[in-house]
Amino acid sequence: MTDRAFFKSFAGLIGALVALTVVIFIIAQMVGGKPSKVETTADAKAVAERIKPVGEVTVGTAEPVRAVEVSSNPVMEAIIPSAQAAPADKGKTVYEGTCVACHGGGIAGAPKFGDKAAWAPRIALGIKTLHQQAIKGFQGKTGMMPPKGGNMSLSDADVMAAVDYMVGHSK
Ligand code: HEC
Repeated sequence: MTDRAFFKSFAGLIGALVALTVVIFIIAQMVGGKPSKVETTADAKAVAERIKPVGEVTVGTAEPVRAVEVSSNPVMEAIIPSAQAAPADKGKTVYEGTCVACHGGGIAGAPKFGDKAAWAPRIALGIKTLHQQAIKGFQGKTGMMPPKGGNMSLSDADVMAAVDYMVGHSK
């Protein structure tokens, strides 16, 4: 094969490959369609919103320091429920699940829920004492208060929340 003949067939091969590339490119365009614009301003905003830090600490200005911005972030709100809402609900739940059996109707000498006269002398003992009596149980003048109202699956905090709930509604 002469150089010329080689060059001719080589050029032909290159030409064929270029043509094939063009054909494949056209087919790809037809199958895949035009790629959509990757990032719009709205997308960028949404991304920034998702990856923004949950907390921000401001130093040296008059603005208050916000350690964790819970309220503006629904995910954080779900993980860390607002401090004010939780104990009130917990106390009510525990009361309705356990304590109401005796305290709801004033059964077996238990001070009745909402009975101010029955609760006043007990409240006078101080909330700490009431917490302890409710957690450890005690034998009083009117009856027997079982430890944790007889429901040992309750945590101390649960019982204290229930005491706070009862006391809050009985004074
Ligand atoms: C089996 C009945 C019973 C259940 C259930 C019960 N209690 Fe009581 N509780 C009593 C009785 C009876 C007394 C009063 C005892 C006395 O003073 O003689 C009492 C008293 C108390 C007092 C007053 C303590 C004091 O020092 O005067 C608190 C507070 C209290 N209960 C909290 C609770 C809580 C919280 C629960 C639920 C977790 C609960 N109780 C469930 C029977 C019960």
